[in-house]
Amino acid sequence: MNSHQGERGFAGQVAVVTGAGSGIGRACAERLAQRGTVIAVLDSNTDAAAESAAQITLAGGKALAVAVDVSDELAVGRAVARVCDTLGQPTILVNAAGIIVRKGLLDSTVQEWRRVLDVNLTGYFILLKAVIPAMRMAGGGSIVQIASIAGHIGYGFSSYTAAKGGVLALTKQLAGELAQDGIRINSVSPGVVRTGLNRDTLGTPAIAGATIQNIPVGRLGEPRDIAAAVCFLAGPEASFVTGTDLVVDGGMVSKIHWPSGARELQNFHAEVGSTR
Ligand SMILES: NC(=O)c1ccc[n+]([C@@H]2O[C@H](COP(=O)([O-])OP(=O)(O)OC[C@H]3O[C@@H](n4cnc5c(N)ncnc54)[C@H](O)[C@@H]3O)[C@@H](O)[C@H]2O)c1
Repeated sequence: MNSHQGERGFAGQVAVVTGAGSGIGRACAERLAQRGTVIAVLDSNTDAAAESAAQITLAGGKALAVAVDVSDELAVGRAVARVCDTLGQPTILVNAAGIIVRKGLLDSTVQEWRRVLDVNLTGYFILLKAVIPAMRMAGGGSIVQIASIAGHIGYGFSSYTAAKGGVLALTKQLAGELAQDGIRINSVSPGVVRTGLNRDTLGTPAIAGATIQNIPVGRLGEPRDIAAAVCFLAGPEASFVTGTDLVVDGGMVSKIHWPSGARELQNFHAEVGSTR
């Protein structure tokens, strides 16, 4: 890693944040902007991108909204060129744009599978290819990829889980490849976070309640919880951290969840635990 890495703060740096029109991407963009980073808000939803950029500007930050589909290589190339021309070379990339198709394997079409992989994995690859040359020219940088607990365990749906597992593996692969350019790359694996992605499921009280019961800290995640972890990994305090994944899930994957029999097990432990 070259000497630039670890010396950079956030102020005056340029960050490309995908999916920044909503949820986790937006919270990351806002948090980075609060630290003085200039934000390129990339999102396929034109209105959402404009709204995020406007909010950042209103709060005293600097942002440029760029409407782009991350799975479109040519469009992403044009978008990143525009960012470089308008804001300067990015030294931070947060890959957060994502979609989900909630279908079991046999119900999923190949088209749905391809779209989820296209956005959630190939889209990350396309952004990496577009942004890393600029980061190199700037002397280094830091990349944070939003993965998921679904990349660690069988939680979710096959196309989504496969894509997120791919993000975890790609991140580890690239840590070694990019270190010589002064570029760090890490991922964050959120648990269940209240965003547009799961507004429908979490909007159902029974599902939200059951989900919270599976989270040891006793609440759903908020986009700001993820943004805090992303900012740590993106910033100078993580200058010795690369190729790792930070699970931010309120403890959800740290324990085995018993659909039934949990109370019996607890009682058993209470009765005999101290004598064995
Ligand atoms: N919400 C959760 O519980 C959760 C958990 C784990 C991981 N994640 C991941 O977090 C990331 C952010 O999702 P979120 O939860 O904030 O959802 P969200 O729906 O609130 O935000 C996703 C954003 O990505 C944008 N987007 C979708 N497809 C795009 C494309 N092709 N090109 C550009 N932009 C596109 C959407 O317009 C939206 O603004 C995703 O990668 C998601 O898989 C979310």
